[in-house]
Amino acid sequence: MIIRPYRDSDSEGVKKVCRETTIKGYENKQTLITTLYVNYYIEKEPQHCFVLADDEDNVVGYILCAADYMKYREIWLKEYGPQIKKKYPIEVFSKKLELMFFKKVIKTCPAHLHIDIIEPYQKGGWGKKLINALLEKLKSEGVPGIFLATYYKNKNACGFYEHLGFKKMGTVFGLSIIYGLYF
Ligand SMILES: CC(C)(COP(=O)(O)OP(=O)(O)OC[C@H]1O[C@@H](n2cnc3c(N)ncnc32)[C@H](O)[C@@H]1OP(=O)(O)O)[C@@H](O)C(=O)NCCC(=O)NCCS
Repeated sequence: MIIRPYRDSDSEGVKKVCRETTIKGYENKQTLITTLYVNYYIEKEPQHCFVLADDEDNVVGYILCAADYMKYREIWLKEYGPQIKKKYPIEVFSKKLELMFFKKVIKTCPAHLHIDIIEPYQKGGWGKKLINALLEKLKSEGVPGIFLATYYKNKNACGFYEHLGFKKMGTVFGLSIIYGLYF
């Protein structure tokens, strides 16, 4: 097992992990979930993406990041939103709205992340190692902090972030909890 920087050839593997770890009901909405959670990061900021690969170099986990939420938001709304707007107008509208909730946290924690590991490799210390690989990179670039939002029912993820020192910074409509970590 190894944690290494993302490469172009990891694209399909990352999308597969995203599909396998997404919340129930979204597994078959491949275009939606990759447009929301994968494409921007691997296409625009691959330098902020790391993968967990098994001994055959298959991707079994990842951490994806945008270092500046406002820059991410602008590009996402211009280039990625229009790709799914017709089929998923509510999701694109939600992306516009979310700034309202993230406004406070991005002042100190402008980066944000998505992390997923497939089930057999969870609870083995790899999540923490992925977070540390990303934090080291962001700190070296002078980024002051990072945030994320996770579904309030994802108790495993909430416990994980809190254990690693992330603090609750608010909610999105009471459905997602916003966690921030100031370095
Ligand atoms: C959430 C996730 C990334 C965590 O990664 P992981 O590899 O399972 O976690 P780790 O084994 O690296 O745990 C790191 C530390 O956090 C602790 N921890 C993990 N889960 C915890 C929990 N639910 N409550 C309290 N502590 C927890 C571990 O005990 C470990 O502590 P230590 O370093 O002091 O020994 C992973 O389980 C996952 O991908 N889950 C499915 C997808 C998902 O929910 N993604 C997040 C969406 S926001």
